[in-house]
Amino acid sequence: MANETRGFTSNIGAILAAAGGAVGLGNIWRYPYMLGQNGGGAFLLVNMFFVLMIGIPLMMSEFVIGRRTQSNVVGAYRKMSPDHKGWTVLGYFGIIAAVLIYAFYSVVAGWTLNYIVMASTGHLSGLEPAEVSEAFSAFTSHSFWPVLCQLLFLALTALVITFGVQKGIEKVSKILMPVLFILLLLMCVRSLTLPAASEGLSFLFRPDFSKLTGQGVLGALGQSFFSLSLGMGAMVTYGSYIRKEDSLFKTSLWISICDLMVAILAGVVIFPAVFSFGMDPAGGPQLVYVVLPNVFNSMPMGGVFAAIFFLLLGIAALTSTISLQEIVVAFTVEELHWSRRKSSIISMLVVFFIGVFCALSFGVLKDATIFGHTVFEFFDMITASYLMPIGALAMTIFLGWFFPKVEIKDEITNGGTLKGKLFELYYFILRYVAPLALLVILISGIVG
Ligand code: PFF
Repeated sequence: MANETRGFTSNIGAILAAAGGAVGLGNIWRYPYMLGQNGGGAFLLVNMFFVLMIGIPLMMSEFVIGRRTQSNVVGAYRKMSPDHKGWTVLGYFGIIAAVLIYAFYSVVAGWTLNYIVMASTGHLSGLEPAEVSEAFSAFTSHSFWPVLCQLLFLALTALVITFGVQKGIEKVSKILMPVLFILLLLMCVRSLTLPAASEGLSFLFRPDFSKLTGQGVLGALGQSFFSLSLGMGAMVTYGSYIRKEDSLFKTSLWISICDLMVAILAGVVIFPAVFSFGMDPAGGPQLVYVVLPNVFNSMPMGGVFAAIFFLLLGIAALTSTISLQEIVVAFTVEELHWSRRKSSIISMLVVFFIGVFCALSFGVLKDATIFGHTVFEFFDMITASYLMPIGALAMTIFLGWFFPKVEIKDEITNGGTLKGKLFELYYFILRYVAPLALLVILISGIVG
């Protein structure tokens, strides 16, 4: 009974739900501006390398932990390490990271609601560049509207979660992910037919390694973790919902391909447009909210494309916030025996309580800094650059060094029914390559 109600019903359902978790603001909002600031194609190549070499093996590892134990992230580590309960701390670490990410993530997710309404009611059309930028600052620094939008987004997410894994998460992902791809392709066609499309494409695909710094490489690794939702239990939780007969390798491969594809396609949408209308590709976090509306304003039927674009961003964000909240809800349902409804509401309120400080850090709280960063920037930085890599590092050490290899192999080969030809390579990466890369990047990040 427990298994019937806890899992995804099909492999495609699992892939779409987990790809929905992975594909999000990280791909469409964060990736393009990081790429813009770090030498375009060079960042893309380094990031792709990290996704393939470290991302996929780590995603498989999280799936192993989840599916083996059929548990939420805390329960999973407890069951995996019956003799050394200390590893359970890793589970709680994941929950905390999820709450912190959700707190700042929901702010930007909430902004999409405002922009969908503004774009579809024509309020973005016809503004001068300076007015677009003013509208963005006026909205984000307001003390009420961004907070309301954030709350609405949290409530929408909680609503889906209350319907459960199959009727909520899986069903919504199966509808929204194809819609997302179609909208994205539509936007690509528009962008590729703009005058300076080739300039934008060469920025995206022609690597300029002279612009990539050590910090840029750290950023590319952080981005791959953030984008694949690794290092804090999202994929452990979703892994526990994957059917026993599905291949964890193929599932991880497909999710990562979807994730990379959306990030690249988002670049294909954004950079040709940015170059065609003479904007700065290194526009920073404001790239999609300030630079793009200007771009839309300069093209025929721009209002329609703006509305489509922000809808796309909202959909991508929603499937990700669902996965973020599910980490916490699976924990409170299974460990604290709360009902799904109670879990959804309480976790939503907790995240809202913390998230408000992030939302207000663009306005009344902009001078309340932590180590020189606003609350929002601080949460973004510590989660993507530190907590997720640390969580991933601890996970690789646990699984690679303290958990029996035969059990991992058994889970990856579905009890020996799959060949597992690449298992030794996977295991080598898990034990040596991934921890070492994570360690180097973490230390270089800390040293400066
Ligand atoms: N992967 C998401 C994105 O790229 O937007 C962000 C994210 C979602 C991170 C869920 C972590 C997570 F658990």
